[in-house]
Amino acid sequence: MSTIHIALLGYGTVGKGVYQTIKTHQKRFKAILGKEVKIEAVLVKNLEKHQLPDPDVILTNKFEDIISLPKLDVVIDAIVGKQPGFSYLSQAIKRGCHIITANKQMFAHYGRELLSLAEKHGVSVGFEATVAGGIPVIQTLRKLLSVNHIKKVHGILNGTSNFILTKMREEGCSFSDALSLAQEKGYAEADPTNDVEGFDAFYKAMILSEVVYGKQPDWEKVRKQGISSITLEQIELFSKFGLRFKHVASLEKTTKGIHCSVKPVLVSSSHPLFHVEDVQNAVSIDADIVGNISLQGPGAGMFPTASAIVEDLIQLETERARPDEGADHASFAHEPLLTWVLYGEVKNLEIPESIEIIGKINAKALLVLAKEESIENLSNKIKGITVYQLLGDFTFSGTEESRFPSAHSITGS
Ligand code: HSE
Repeated sequence: MSTIHIALLGYGTVGKGVYQTIKTHQKRFKAILGKEVKIEAVLVKNLEKHQLPDPDVILTNKFEDIISLPKLDVVIDAIVGKQPGFSYLSQAIKRGCHIITANKQMFAHYGRELLSLAEKHGVSVGFEATVAGGIPVIQTLRKLLSVNHIKKVHGILNGTSNFILTKMREEGCSFSDALSLAQEKGYAEADPTNDVEGFDAFYKAMILSEVVYGKQPDWEKVRKQGISSITLEQIELFSKFGLRFKHVASLEKTTKGIHCSVKPVLVSSSHPLFHVEDVQNAVSIDADIVGNISLQGPGAGMFPTASAIVEDLIQLETERARPDEGADHASFAHEPLLTWVLYGEVKNLEIPESIEIIGKINAKALLVLAKEESIENLSNKIKGITVYQLLGDFTFSGTEESRFPSAHSITGS
């Protein structure tokens, strides 16, 4: 039976979770992939602090030992910070390895570069574990919502903050006691400022923005506020009125671009986020066809994060086995379908299959749905047409024709 050879960067909470999960789920890997999965080496900062349970696995503090392993298929990144993670993963890609990362700060900064480098070298990048722990939100958005147009996303993206707010409200814990408990449980970052001041949720929101809208908002314009200024007194007061503090990241495409904020809000019991407690995360997606989808699950901790990583491993292996169906290596997102108004001589206009006609606003204006690239191709080819993107909904009042019949050529008056 063939083997997938893995190197693991980092042996903290997440690294240990991945190591144990791979070790204890060999039967499942064999059943799904028909292959064994073997961790060949683990990279740590301090050799003295760690001991691996298996003597045949190399423990090293030198990345050179990792990148020069004779057999290496996948590098799993469970370290924190922009560097050296970015540099290690770039080298792994150049060597022809697939990469899987849980490092949100690094991926919010360098995700695009890693994805295009991976495309160049024909390898895959898994980053499910960067956002919302064990919740499969990235796969859901990238693979399962390609046709839907996503209007808004909001969610609780930091498990530590949600845990602290819950403990303070339910048990009257002080902020610092609740934070210590979150650290003990392995939820908090090495530097918990990232959790409680909103940076961690911000990086996750930036990754989601890339996945949903293909770009990030200007970082300087995003309001980022953590939970450290919320007092026990405030929590108790609002609790009496049936309101709970939740730390919420919101993303929305507006006429002025992508609007994002990361801040504490008060939530009443009628809202789905009200019931998201402890270390749970939730992501609520508003899309045009399906309506609202909410995903909820464990947002931090050893095994939820390991779960996201091993699911990525299966995903990239199965995609590799089905090359015709192709992994979407190059980009975070499918290019979105946008709504456009074609204005001008639209009578007798030949509309290609890549552009879907929604309806006729009047004799000179058509409403269509298409990718930006298709619209650019059309307007380069055809003179006498001006194209405007439409933001927001357009309601046909009755005099216009909506939902054109099957013909893709407009011949009506
Ligand atoms: N510190 C992070 C959290 C870990 O609490 O959500 C998971 O990304």
